[in-house]
Amino acid sequence: MIHEFARLDSTQTKAKELIESKSAAIGDVVWAHEQLAGRGRGNHQWHAQAGSSLTCTFIAPSISHGQPPLSLVVGALLAQAFSQLDTNTESIKIKWPNDLYYQGKKLGGILIENTQNYSLIGIGINIKYTESLEHLEATALDKVYTSPLINISSILEEVTQALSPILTNFDNLSTIWKPCHTYIESNQLYLNQLVMLNSGNEQIQGVIKGINEQGALLVATKNTEQEKGLRTIIQASMIRPVTG
Ligand code: BTN
Repeated sequence: MIHEFARLDSTQTKAKELIESKSAAIGDVVWAHEQLAGRGRGNHQWHAQAGSSLTCTFIAPSISHGQPPLSLVVGALLAQAFSQLDTNTESIKIKWPNDLYYQGKKLGGILIENTQNYSLIGIGINIKYTESLEHLEATALDKVYTSPLINISSILEEVTQALSPILTNFDNLSTIWKPCHTYIESNQLYLNQLVMLNSGNEQIQGVIKGINEQGALLVATKNTEQEKGLRTIIQASMIRPVTG
C-alpha cells in the first residue's frame, strides 16, 4: 500500500508514526510530494525542491546480523534499474555505502534505519534538474534519460519494481546480494582513486580497491601496501577524492 502525502517533514518519521499507530505495515511505502526536513546519513540533511524529487520510505522486515548491507543492495538494484531504462546512458555508480552518482554528481541517496521490528529504507532521488542542484554539485534523472517523459510517480513504480526482490525475499538477501556485489565491483565511484575518508575518529588516505564479500570497503593505504594487504573499512562518514 502507498501512503501518499502532499507535504511531510520526513517520510522516515511518518513511516515510524504510521507503524506505531498500526496504520502501516511491512511492505508499505510512504511517499511525500514535498519533504521539508529530509534526513540523510549522519547529520546530513536531504534538500529537495517541491515536485523535483522522489522522497519515499519503504517499510521492510528488520534486518538480522550477518545479512549483506541493505544500503548497498538497494543502491545496486536501483542503479541497475535506472541504467536499464535507457540503454544509451552511462552506468550509474555507487558511492559506498549509500549514494547513487551519475557523471561524478550525486543523483540520489539511501538512508537505512533499523529497529527491532522493522527496517526503514529511505530513498531520495533527484528527478528534475533545478538550479539548487547545481550549487550542491548534484544531478537529476532528467539528465540521465533522453526521454522527456519522466515523472515522479512513474519513477516510484520503477523503484517499487526494482526493490520487489528484497521485500519478497528479505530473509535471504544473500542470493540477491551476489549480482549486486558484481554490479558494484564494476561500477564503484572512486575505484582505484586516492581518497580521504573519515572512519571513527581517524582520517585515512588511501586508494579504493573495491568491496569485500560482506560489502565492507577495501582500501590500500601506505601501511597496508607494505604488508601487501588491504584495509577493511566497515563504517565511514565521509569519502572524498584527493585531487592534484
Ligand atoms: C543521504 O544522502 O545521506 C541519504 C538521503 C536519504 C533521503 C531520503 S528522502 C526520503 C527519506 N526520508 C528522509 O527523511 N530521508 C530519506
